[in-house]
Amino acid sequence: MTASLDSGLFHSLENPFGGSEAGVDFGQGRSGLDLRDSGFLSDVPLGDQTMSIAIRKCRPSDARALSLLGQATMLATYAETVPLDDILQHCEGPHSVATYAEWLGRMDYQIWLAEVEATHAPIGYAVLGPPEVTLDLEETDIELRRIYVLQGFHGGGLGARLLSTVVEAAHEAGFQRLLLSVYSRNENAIGFYIRQGFIQAGTHRFKVGSNDYDDFIMARSL
Ligand SMILES: CC(C)(COP(=O)(O)OP(=O)(O)OC[C@H]1O[C@@H](n2cnc3c(N)ncnc32)[C@H](O)[C@@H]1OP(=O)(O)O)[C@@H](O)C(=O)NCCC(=O)NCCS
Repeated sequence: MTASLDSGLFHSLENPFGGSEAGVDFGQGRSGLDLRDSGFLSDVPLGDQTMSIAIRKCRPSDARALSLLGQATMLATYAETVPLDDILQHCEGPHSVATYAEWLGRMDYQIWLAEVEATHAPIGYAVLGPPEVTLDLEETDIELRRIYVLQGFHGGGLGARLLSTVVEAAHEAGFQRLLLSVYSRNENAIGFYIRQGFIQAGTHRFKVGSNDYDDFIMARSL
């Protein structure tokens, strides 16, 4: 089967969860562990603790929201390991409104956004696109180009929910392997990926600002 993000199959997949939006009862992520113990992703009522989150496919008008969230998460994630100049250049380039606007206009990219239903504030997103990692690639490979959850919402299951959305859509489109590149010092994300079934498939040099960084390439079958 030929896999393609611009195949009719992919675009007919409005929402892997079955509607145009997936409502999730999302407990206050700032108390992640408590919420996980409460099983917030099921229908268990959490009273005042419940927050409704929607995961939906992005619209062209989402470029500013994606850029804001990308820049905020970039700073929070790499403040301890990446020099400011590189963070700033990365925010002004790969996390710019223009970059997201370009991706949103491409048929070979798909982007999902998680937002607080009450405010439409963006708190997570995931990007699928053509692989750019240095690896022997197959036609049926696709790359998780980004998965970002706003820092205060970590540990509550939103990352897993975004990933399952991506995995289901990529599988439906005929892709057989999901690749990604992650900074080798981003232990939090690496732990998440391993927990989600990824294994290391190679290494990769990734430019952030003026410097090259050592990344791991990770992969899981679809
Ligand atoms: C990586 C990231 C997307 C994970 O999202 P999250 O919402 O915090 O993760 P979840 O709560 O959905 O966790 C899902 C599973 O992964 C596990 N997990 C999460 N973080 C983990 C870690 N650091 N180590 C081990 N397992 C971890 C959870 O325990 C959970 O397992 P379970 O299903 O058995 O309960 C999020 O931390 C993030 O956006 N980080 C900053 C940006 C970033 O680094 N992105 C990746 C760049 S390549």
